[in-house]
Amino acid sequence: MRALTFHGIEDVRLTEAPDPSLLDPRDALVRPLRAAICGSDLHAVQGREEGLDLGTVLGHEIYGEVLEVGSDVQAVRPGDRVVAPFTTSCGKCTPCLQGLTARCELGQLFGWSSGGQGLQGTQADLLRVPLADTTLVKVPKDVSGARALLSGDVLSTGMFCALQAGAAECQTLAVVGAGPVGLMAALCALHLGADQVFVLDSVVERLELAARFGAEPLSIEEGAARETILARTEGRGVDAVCECVGSPAASRASIELLRPGGTLAAVGVHTEAAFAFSPGEAYDKNLTYRAGRCPARALMDTTLPLALDSTWPLEELFTHRVPLEHGADAYRIFGSREDGCIKVLLELD
Ligand SMILES: NC(=O)c1ccc[n+]([C@@H]2O[C@H](COP(=O)([O-])OP(=O)(O)OC[C@H]3O[C@@H](n4cnc5c(N)ncnc54)[C@H](O)[C@@H]3O)[C@@H](O)[C@H]2O)c1
Ligand SMILES: [Zn+2]
Ligand SMILES: [Zn+2]
Repeated sequence: MRALTFHGIEDVRLTEAPDPSLLDPRDALVRPLRAAICGSDLHAVQGREEGLDLGTVLGHEIYGEVLEVGSDVQAVRPGDRVVAPFTTSCGKCTPCLQGLTARCELGQLFGWSSGGQGLQGTQADLLRVPLADTTLVKVPKDVSGARALLSGDVLSTGMFCALQAGAAECQTLAVVGAGPVGLMAALCALHLGADQVFVLDSVVERLELAARFGAEPLSIEEGAARETILARTEGRGVDAVCECVGSPAASRASIELLRPGGTLAAVGVHTEAAFAFSPGEAYDKNLTYRAGRCPARALMDTTLPLALDSTWPLEELFTHRVPLEHGADAYRIFGSREDGCIKVLLELD
């Protein structure tokens, strides 16, 4: 099969990879019709995250058609259209029953293989999905695959971040990072009831989309974002921050925007060994800190209907729609935020 595979830093290639097959009675084989490139794919490709095996098929966002199912699979049949969250989950272990499907005891992340162990990704002609009954979500045949796919990752992650931030109770909330995840966090925070949402980034096109979503864009280039927020909050800072970047600079910026007693909800993937703020600063702020991987499967029950609600302006995220053949180039464009690129949709059919 054709696949976008990882060959080292800034080296993504379209290659011929081995076809997957059913390895377990609970597996399904799915043909991706739509896939996408996520900011998380960039961590390995840009060298911030180590350990990804060379040759791994990348990607963890998918809308597709079920081709074949193992003998224990009951919830989906060949021909069904499905979306998947970015990790597999069993639906039965303690974390799954607590709604923390991202930490399923049997869970695996699509597109992450390390030391020969792990799961291949979605940016390919075929995908093996373990624990298919409790991982895949069936969708009607006539829905937009591009919109549906967003519920498997960035829309759910944005929702998770906004929920973790307590957006419903916030008069003011700031989103740090206006990538697809931050943009979804802003949209979800407003949907949940946050009165005023500021969005901080340096990329003009992303800030413009944040404004169209109803948030107030603040460019970090101008160096006055914090002063603006303090001026707008009577000098206190915002009630909560959604940190959607995953860097020490973003952590630092986040804590500096918060009022005492505020909540910092971080979904940006952090690979550094230490916090960018000290225990003393956390104490002095009476900080609540929440972090981690989004339990997308659990959230999809809420976010899939939102993804398919045409009044949500989600199509605007996909600035680039390309066939798999152009995927390696699309990684470069998305990674360097060239050409107004916000999110890349890979069209495989
Ligand atoms: N927790 C989860 O389950 C989960 C799921 C999906 C993605 N993520 C992570 O969320 C993060 C965002 O993903 P994405 O797809 O939106 O990525 P992205 O790379 O497209 O967007 C990141 C944005 O942050 C901006 N940025 C960088 N430094 C900044 C700073 N100091 N202040 C303000 N903005 C800054 C960039 O200009 C960019 O627009 C990544 O770390 C990704 O791995 C986490
Ligand atoms: Zn992702
Ligand atoms: Zn589980």
